[in-house]
Amino acid sequence: MTLRPTPADKFSFGLWTVGWQARDPFGDATRAALDPVEAVHRLAELGAYGITFHDDDLIPFGADAATRDQHVARFRTALDETGLVVPMVTTNLFTHPVFKDGGFTSNDRDVRRYALRKVLRNVDLAAELGARTFVMWGGREGAEYDVAKDIRAALDRYREAVDLLTQYVVDAGYDLRFAIEPKPNEPRGDILLPTVGHALAFINELAHPELVGLNPEVGHEQMAGLNYAHGIAQALWHGKLFHLDLNGQRGIKYDQDLVFGHGDLLNAFALVDLLENGGPGGGPAYDGPRHFDYKPSRTEDFAGVWASAEANMRTYLLLKERAAAFRADPEVAEALAVSKVAELATPTLAAGESCADLLADRSAFEDFDVDAVAARGFGFVRLNQLAVEHLFGAR
Ligand code: GCO
Ligand code: MN
Ligand code: MN
Repeated sequence: MTLRPTPADKFSFGLWTVGWQARDPFGDATRAALDPVEAVHRLAELGAYGITFHDDDLIPFGADAATRDQHVARFRTALDETGLVVPMVTTNLFTHPVFKDGGFTSNDRDVRRYALRKVLRNVDLAAELGARTFVMWGGREGAEYDVAKDIRAALDRYREAVDLLTQYVVDAGYDLRFAIEPKPNEPRGDILLPTVGHALAFINELAHPELVGLNPEVGHEQMAGLNYAHGIAQALWHGKLFHLDLNGQRGIKYDQDLVFGHGDLLNAFALVDLLENGGPGGGPAYDGPRHFDYKPSRTEDFAGVWASAEANMRTYLLLKERAAAFRADPEVAEALAVSKVAELATPTLAAGESCADLLADRSAFEDFDVDAVAARGFGFVRLNQLAVEHLFGAR
């Protein structure tokens, strides 16, 4: 087993992750600013393949055109030197006070127009750098007070914004798709499109639904008490898993952004098993970037930043190796059969069988031994224990 990541593993990191200065609502920064150029070099040395950013992570907010070009040029040089790619770009519509009531859904129309201009400019940059995914995390799109936000109007404005952006990409001929990142709360009391399910339903109402998918984050679903691996499975089922944000979260509380696997490790195991082995024929179900959106904890110095970046990748690779061992174990195969896991893939009606045929099938109802079948156990606990033991490396 090699735990040394390579670009073939498609690990990517946000510039804002390793670059986080660890300022929180209660305390000042504990680390100095990180030069994006250094981030590119360090991540490449660690074996990552990609780096992502918000416009303001790379180009200070309000920079003039010449300064902007300089920042982009330096960054491009670092990318060329290391071979790192930019698979995804996103826009900061949350830090500047002008966005205090949101960007696309601010009650103030002038703010909405400004937000669209900021995103359009960033879409051009994303296309220029070869990004294929454009993430939209609407952290400020929400409210604290129910009476202060007309939610249906806000969704109209959200849709208006996304429709305008997708049409812009179509007209420009960019090879770029949008990925909505749900989150239930923080920084707003309640955020619009709070979960994977809400976002999937929203996408159905858009003018170009084929250009819009999801960027689900581990911690965000878990903050809502939801099962991340289930959310990812449903996003895959809809063909909407365009990107994902991996990290760790321990229960329903503030957004912890821990290292991947440092939260619900069993769910992380199920997730990696799904991503790596859940595709047709047992191959990968997802071939996009394995993107880490975590925050090196406030207690860490720069050595800790790079150790934590590496930890995300090592944990992923370990889980991948453990999931492969689980899948290869004959006792697991036998336990899966006892649990009838594969039987769920068999359609409930036979090919060509009609509802009338089902009604005529006495074995399905009149002669069905309900009590005997009800008495049968599924053996799920034994199966799960086998997963736990593989996860420990005990098998
Ligand atoms: C958060 C979010 C962000 C987004 C990022 C990309 O909770 O802070 O996860 O980190 O992923 O802004 O748009
Ligand atoms: Mn987060
Ligand atoms: Mn995120």
